[in-house]
Amino acid sequence: MPKLASYNGKVDSIENIKVSPMSRAFLFSDSVYEVISFYKKKFIDFETHLDRLKHSLNETKISCSIEDCKTEIVKLLNESRFEDGYIYYQVSRGVDSIRSHFFEESDCERFGFIEEFSFFNQSPLKVMLVDDIRWQRCDIKSTSLLGNVLQMNDAKSIGCNEILMHKNGELTEGGASNIFFVKDKTIFTPELSTNILPGITRYQVIKIIKDKKLNFEEGSYGIDDLKEASSIWFTSTTKGIVGVEEIVNLETKINPECELLEICKNAFVKRYFS
Ligand code: PDD
Repeated sequence: MPKLASYNGKVDSIENIKVSPMSRAFLFSDSVYEVISFYKKKFIDFETHLDRLKHSLNETKISCSIEDCKTEIVKLLNESRFEDGYIYYQVSRGVDSIRSHFFEESDCERFGFIEEFSFFNQSPLKVMLVDDIRWQRCDIKSTSLLGNVLQMNDAKSIGCNEILMHKNGELTEGGASNIFFVKDKTIFTPELSTNILPGITRYQVIKIIKDKKLNFEEGSYGIDDLKEASSIWFTSTTKGIVGVEEIVNLETKINPECELLEICKNAFVKRYFS
């Protein structure tokens, strides 16, 4: 069954979509994106994803109507037969006639596709601790993901399925997720900064933690904090909340069976999937 996609508002089978090689997304990764999940044909946190897309567009000075994006994403879902899954949607600055670092006002270029996906039965993660080699505006959901791609594939070559990044010893986030850890019955997560993506799942998990009145702190943490952690979790739109079973290059005492993780996971499933 061919994948269904949308290009500048036109929904078609992905094979029929023709994109110019002069697209600034192709030449410069001059584009931003969102991954939005849906369950039983309903988007999860749709408006929050649109707000973050707006933030990414504003910060990169890409002019694009967020209402057009919304209409196109809804159309893609409505034209698909999938009940559960996610939509990948990116907006580039447009298509140029010459390759130039300097940009001018142009029509933005929008591309998305829909994927079927099941949110349940995520296995615990095996993780490699790596240097965060990315740029300094990780709060923007840019399609320039070379730093993540290189480090994640190094990790894959030794049997890992995620990375945990640090910048000069300060924990930032996963390759495609945010991180939480538990130490002395308190849940910690790195505070928001330009070094991490303001994850929407992260935000929802923090809401759950606060609702449940669990001990919680946001701040700046280092590798030594991880060494003392009893549990580490990753959060993202496609992972939900998932525990770490091992950090392959760090001695830790982590236990994937964590009571606080179970409390948050159960509340998360109840909130979105019941
Ligand atoms: N990634 N940090 C990074 C670097 C991410 O790429 C993501 C999501 C997150 C979690 O954000 P959210 O909870 O809003 O999904 C954090 C998506 C899923 C991706 O690139 O496929």
